[in-house]
Amino acid sequence: MTEKERDSIEKIFGQIYEINKLSEQGCTSEVRKILTESGTYLLKSSFYSRYREWLRMEALVLEKLTNQHAIPVPRYFGFFEDEKSSHLVMSFEKGTTLTTALKNAKSQIEKLNLIRSFGEFLNRLHETNIPESLYRENDWLEEQLIRAEKYLHEGQTEGTHQLLEQLQSTKLHPVSQTIIHGDCTTDNVLVIDGKVSFFIDVSGMTAGDPRYDESLAIGCFDDESHIKMFYQGYRRYQVSKEESQYFNEGLYEFF
Ligand SMILES: Nc1ncnc2c1ncn2[C@@H]1O[C@H](COP(=O)(O)OP(=O)(O)OP(=O)(O)O)[C@@H](O)[C@H]1O
Ligand SMILES: [Mg+2]
Repeated sequence: MTEKERDSIEKIFGQIYEINKLSEQGCTSEVRKILTESGTYLLKSSFYSRYREWLRMEALVLEKLTNQHAIPVPRYFGFFEDEKSSHLVMSFEKGTTLTTALKNAKSQIEKLNLIRSFGEFLNRLHETNIPESLYRENDWLEEQLIRAEKYLHEGQTEGTHQLLEQLQSTKLHPVSQTIIHGDCTTDNVLVIDGKVSFFIDVSGMTAGDPRYDESLAIGCFDDESHIKMFYQGYRRYQVSKEESQYFNEGLYEFF
């Protein structure tokens, strides 16, 4: 950590006693646990322009959700940046990602219970009223296609021109928008006391198309029995093959 970064943190959170890099790291950021005079926090830092933009979006979402309890997300404490890096400070949450919990599960039953709980948790999110602070009038899918096109022009995506054209010409019929996580994989939810009960990595959380979350969630499982279990928890809708492919093998390629 640079002197300047340290100063910025200490100005707000008091003297830093300890900094520990987490054993589980994401792909787009560096995450550290920091112990300061005023408490323990999670410091998430990004260094590349695209990822810094995402981190800024995440900070904004967390800030907008500060005064609500309906959606379990980390508490926002601060965001700062300099020429080379951006940093988000949030509450440090106990728990492990669902990816890790599934890897460590001691029995098939434990695994299936976790997967059902993931379904229940996502179901609950999609049935939560959209907080006023995240409400938007615009069509989410239309905006994502515009964003995909921008990333394509900037040359920073795995998606291709051909794929984008296909997504534009076969755009899914709209469904009513709900609050969505926006990157709903087993990496981005935490398991606490055997239950999936916390969202992290929330830069994409907004009013959007719930089929995107659902598709990404079931895309994490190869086994049919796991997908079936997910739907024992997620009961509001089941995406068709066409819908899940549109997102998993289509739109998601751009982000
Ligand atoms: N608030 C938090 N409290 C405790 N641990 C956290 C918190 N936020 C993130 N983590 C840990 O840090 C890891 C990376 O976090 P996160 O998913 O936000 O990073 P990322 O770089 O955006 O991930 P990716 O780009 O791979 O999706 C998580 O797997 C989790 O173990
Ligand atoms: Mg993540």
